[in-house]
Amino acid sequence: MPKGILDKLLTMERSAFLKSIAGAGVASLGLGSLSFKPEETAGINPDVMPAHISGPAPDFNRIREDFPRVKQEIYMDNASTHPINIYTAAALHRYAEWAKNEVGEPWWPLWNDTRLDCKASFAKLINADPDEIAFARTTVEAENNILNGMDFKGGNLVTTDLHYSASLYSFKMREQRDGLKVKIIKHNDWKFNVKDFEGVIDKNTKLVAITLVSNVNGFVVEDVKAISDLAHANGAILYVDFIQGVGAVPVDVKAMGIDIAACSTFKWLMGSKGFGFMYVRKDLQDTVVRTTHHNGGITYNYAPWTDKVDPNLPEIIFKPTTGPGMYEVSYPSYEGVSCAIASLKYIHELGVNNIQNHNRTLTSKLAKEMPRLGYQTITPEGNKSPIIVFIAKNPDETMKKLRAAKIHVAMRFGNKLRISPSIYNNLADIDRLLEVLS
Ligand SMILES: Cc1ncc(COP(=O)(O)O)c(C=O)c1O
Repeated sequence: MPKGILDKLLTMERSAFLKSIAGAGVASLGLGSLSFKPEETAGINPDVMPAHISGPAPDFNRIREDFPRVKQEIYMDNASTHPINIYTAAALHRYAEWAKNEVGEPWWPLWNDTRLDCKASFAKLINADPDEIAFARTTVEAENNILNGMDFKGGNLVTTDLHYSASLYSFKMREQRDGLKVKIIKHNDWKFNVKDFEGVIDKNTKLVAITLVSNVNGFVVEDVKAISDLAHANGAILYVDFIQGVGAVPVDVKAMGIDIAACSTFKWLMGSKGFGFMYVRKDLQDTVVRTTHHNGGITYNYAPWTDKVDPNLPEIIFKPTTGPGMYEVSYPSYEGVSCAIASLKYIHELGVNNIQNHNRTLTSKLAKEMPRLGYQTITPEGNKSPIIVFIAKNPDETMKKLRAAKIHVAMRFGNKLRISPSIYNNLADIDRLLEVLS
């Protein structure tokens, strides 16, 4: 595996950086009503993860210090957007310095290694081969590209009403415009299992599309492998939107039988918006899932383009791109890559199991206490994601109280109070929320 070199290449004197922005008494740079606080990342080296996240018992009190977002309010809306930590912020600052002062160096082959490193780190997180990972811009764009590249002639697509709403929109558009047959399985008490797919997936099914962790109620699909087996037995493949899962719950694409998946990095991967990953099982690349836009270059084998014409080769030498790079066009977001390298490092070091256990302690307390306050949950009992959702009898009033107490959560689909704590939240945050709502 190529060694990670971006960090080394982009290493610069942080003191020089801080001096450049802190001169003339400027303590912060305005960004609307927000401000840039370089002191929060001063002395942070994103290549070196802190000791408090290592080992079997990470120090979650210290982890709070890695996320300055905690200073503003009790933020428990990570399922919308997760804040980045100071290591990822330091990596971004370093990138900004490189882009400002050193762009052009390193030349692109070095960035190529960096990109491979980033993919390898993500591949490790989901137990894929790095050769199965492409950069994507967003989850929904990747899913659209996948569908565009598949042959649905006479076939159908099976999904559920807990799949992401923008995906269902894409399916309905394809139904209306192209005659794609779309079968939407309704959830059963806010969950579903493989039995719900029996008799719906048939020999004409080409794709089964599900969301691993629902953004609506946090439901984690437990039967992924069984659904995959059923899809495969009928000649279909399984696509999984795992944006609300990766980084928060263990994902093993091989064990789960996932054929294609996509996510971007601004939720539980604690990275940036508009940058993400697509997983495509090796044997499906450009066979079942064809490229819909093309990425590569050609060489001219005639004068004056070359002074060394090879008579054994055609005038225009063209070789199709192979591997997951075939799904990418142009440069990826280097800001996205810089963020992802650092945040994935943090997640690997901390460990997804530790992350999941911590978050479950918080959601379990909510599951236990909220019904006593009149909030019934629509998240299945014992669910293993960091997202828990309750029905609010008076949504406006609930949000007013929470906002006044500087507790940031989400109210979605009218009356669904979504609370999604993360690693920097603690039981005191949960107690405060319970106190405000009681
Ligand atoms: C389940 C799910 N899928 C997809 C998305 C959209 O992500 P992206 O911007 O990567 O398309 C979201 C965002 O809220 C989501 O919750």
